[in-house]
Amino acid sequence: MNSISVKHLSKNYLIHKKTAGLLGTAKAMFSRSYETVKAVQDISFEIEEGEMLGFIGPNGAGKTTTLKCLSGLLYPTAGNLSVLDFKPFERKHDFLRQISLIMGQKNQLWWDLPAMDTFLLNKEIYGVSDADFEETLSDLVTRLDVRDLVHTPVRKLSLGQRMKMEIIAALIHSPKVLFLDEPTIGLDVVMQKAIREFLKEYNERYRATIILTSHYMKDVEALCKRVLIINHGKLLYDGLLQSLIKKQAPYKFITVRLKTEVPSGKLAVFGQMKSYTFPEWVTAVPNERAGVVVADILKTFAVEDVSIEEPEIEDVISEIFAEGKGGE
Ligand SMILES: Nc1ncnc2c1ncn2[C@@H]1O[C@H](COP(=O)(O)OP(=O)(O)OP(=O)(O)O)[C@@H](O)[C@H]1O
Ligand SMILES: [Mg+2]
Repeated sequence: MNSISVKHLSKNYLIHKKTAGLLGTAKAMFSRSYETVKAVQDISFEIEEGEMLGFIGPNGAGKTTTLKCLSGLLYPTAGNLSVLDFKPFERKHDFLRQISLIMGQKNQLWWDLPAMDTFLLNKEIYGVSDADFEETLSDLVTRLDVRDLVHTPVRKLSLGQRMKMEIIAALIHSPKVLFLDEPTIGLDVVMQKAIREFLKEYNERYRATIILTSHYMKDVEALCKRVLIINHGKLLYDGLLQSLIKKQAPYKFITVRLKTEVPSGKLAVFGQMKSYTFPEWVTAVPNERAGVVVADILKTFAVEDVSIEEPEIEDVISEIFAEGKGGE
């Protein structure tokens, strides 16, 4: 069963254009001119129940706009959306009861009150029974390790603790579909990892369908087999992250620590020289030749240490955007 179906989604924002200066203000009072921002342009994709999908793109690509359309906060300019067989923008109670949008940069918690107050408010909004509330809350605070902090005013919590409370507040009604917009932004690596592991568990336990946007490729790499790549509102790629890396970066890096200095001219024949500052030498070779080249290097030079590495996903992705694919 498809949990989410997006067909030809487009979303334009109309922004009011005003000429600078007083005259501009005066003019704008009489004739309003608008400019259209095409935030999302003709995007289609489907997600099955229980799938965890990564949504990648540079700033302004249209990720948040898409998630807002899917959670019913924005009315699409064109296209058909279906989430759990609901039309999101109708915002029916039965729909809202089963989804959640978590935004790392926006908070729903009351600043001066303990997180518990927000949890209780959400319990009422979503009509969660006392028994379910107790059970879910107890489970969430344990898993996220914040049991002792639920009665502390939110303003006294650290950024990471606050984010965990945000996540709990968003999950108190046990939603089946989660839209996560940069849930780990600004957090240290330990906290990022904790949240990542929690999300993975949540996905597995509830067979929850999850779309995750993140600028941290580690999040995407750890959680999502399949990714969508978006730029300038257009979909550039929909498929496995691993296939993308293979296709986009059909090479590996070989890092060698030499025992004795060798003139760089002698190294240049072993693939594409990336860097050489004795004793460390890095060369890039086609994936399928990596083994052979390493054997050759070991035969030819006195070598202290050698390692083969895949290119970083970050680099692969930024290469795609640098190529300017999908631009106007
Ligand atoms: N309320 C709005 N009014 C006008 N334009 C908007 C509005 N919200 C977003 N935009 C524009 O729509 C485009 C897509 O924005 P969106 O927030 O969806 O990008 P994003 O992929 O989430 O970026 P980021 O990674 O920075 O969060 C951008 O050009 C942005 O300036
Ligand atoms: Mg965004």
